Amino acid sequence: MSAVAAPDHQAFKAGMRKQWDVSAQGWNHHTAAIRAWLRQSTDAMLDMAGIGPGASVLDVAAGAGDQTLDIAQRVGPTGRVLATDLSPVMLELARRNAQQAGLRNVQTLVADGEDLAVASASFDAAVSRLGLMFLPEPLKGLHGMHRALRPGGGICTVVFSRPDRNPCLGILMATALKHAGLPARDPFTPGGLLSLGKPGLADELFRAAGFQDVASTALDAPFHLPTARHYLDFVRASASPIQQIVGRLSPEAADAAWADMEERQGVFTTASGWVGPNELLLTAARR
Ligand SMILES: C[S@@+](CC[C@H](N)C(=O)[O-])C[C@H]1O[C@@H](n2cnc3c(N)ncnc32)[C@H](O)[C@@H]1O
Repeated sequence: MSAVAAPDHQAFKAGMRKQWDVSAQGWNHHTAAIRAWLRQSTDAMLDMAGIGPGASVLDVAAGAGDQTLDIAQRVGPTGRVLATDLSPVMLELARRNAQQAGLRNVQTLVADGEDLAVASASFDAAVSRLGLMFLPEPLKGLHGMHRALRPGGGICTVVFSRPDRNPCLGILMATALKHAGLPARDPFTPGGLLSLGKPGLADELFRAAGFQDVASTALDAPFHLPTARHYLDFVRASASPIQQIVGRLSPEAADAAWADMEERQGVFTTASGWVGPNELLLTAARR
């Protein structure tokens, strides 16, 4: 009987770190557009995690720290936020952004979200914005966040919801795979962009990690940009999972893939600019 090889999660995460190190500057460069796109969901995430003045907050997969800065402002000088991320390049940008904003209550820690080296019961709240779905074993990450929270502490994570509610992502992925000569992927493969969009999965994982009062809310989050070209500029600079696929191609083939993606994103052009449909899933709970 032949055993099925276990997925190599360490290799997966090493690749993930490398990809995000490469995309970090691009992600940070597009902060204004990302901020506008995620404004409503970020405010809702902080509210649903119960973050207020004086709170001690754990931010997992914090990236260049856009939401970290919001948290730092919200908790004020008597609170603190620990921004953690797998990518040291991302996290250095978060540190610098906090410093430039004059926020002295932000600390950073390079850490795999599945292996958070933080003291037990040391945070009042935990959040993760567009990060949890990249963990190949999100339950491990949730167990770690549960352990890090004090009893009664709040958590809220934001991930992409169902694939049919995020068609611009589906188009990017399908087009990139087609140009790379790769087969279509199951969108719910662990660690993928849409992996936690599987209906019911996020709630199930939160409960399995021991959280109480688990509830998910889908939030419409259209991405407004002047044109499809602007969206492709963002994707080319900062959308690490797509870059990783296109990066296998020759420069000419890559150009053809990007051009095809831009053309196909044209379906979302409206009289008032390009409006990419996205839906986010906010899952909130308490330890
Ligand atoms: C789409 S970015 C989101 C960054 C930030 N939270 C934001 O919303 O602007 C995804 C982030 O997840 C991080 N990430 C991916 N896998 C991770 C893991 N296993 N542990 C911690 N962070 C991870 C990446 O390094 C990247 O910074």
